[in-house]
Amino acid sequence: MSLQPASTEFAARAKSVIDEYKGLEGPLLPILHGLQEEFGYVPGESVPIIAETLNLSRAEVHGVITFYHDYRSHPAGRHALKVCRAEACQSMGGDAIAAQLIQALGIGFHETAADNSVTLEPVFCLGMCACAPAAMLDGEPIGRIDAEKIEEIVAEVRS
Ligand code: FES
Repeated sequence: MSLQPASTEFAARAKSVIDEYKGLEGPLLPILHGLQEEFGYVPGESVPIIAETLNLSRAEVHGVITFYHDYRSHPAGRHALKVCRAEACQSMGGDAIAAQLIQALGIGFHETAADNSVTLEPVFCLGMCACAPAAMLDGEPIGRIDAEKIEEIVAEVRS
């Protein structure tokens, strides 16, 4: 995570989000959520601003960002692939499917490919248990994933 000094424009945008939530009880999570909404991720440059505003150390803020996987410290990829890791999908071979996707894409869960093509996220039930194992690519449900569908997914995110 970059902790370089923020540009004036960035600092103004970040501060306006931080100011919106800083009066709440337990403001850190709403602030992080707000920053992710604003920028698509929680930029490292916002950490010192948050720390100063909330009178926390930078390490404390950074620790919270890395503890919650929902917060990204880098921009998301062009495609979002969410792979179900819940029970019904696991019972239908979801673990092997996840492993094959990880291998084919060369990234783990909560990671974005180096070419920024895709971000891989685990989810816990997509409501498609009858079509397990399931995933969602850019909001489009994909059921009964097998080796052929994995190839299609990989081709789609690389296209
Ligand atoms: S458990 Fe995977 S979609 Fe419900």
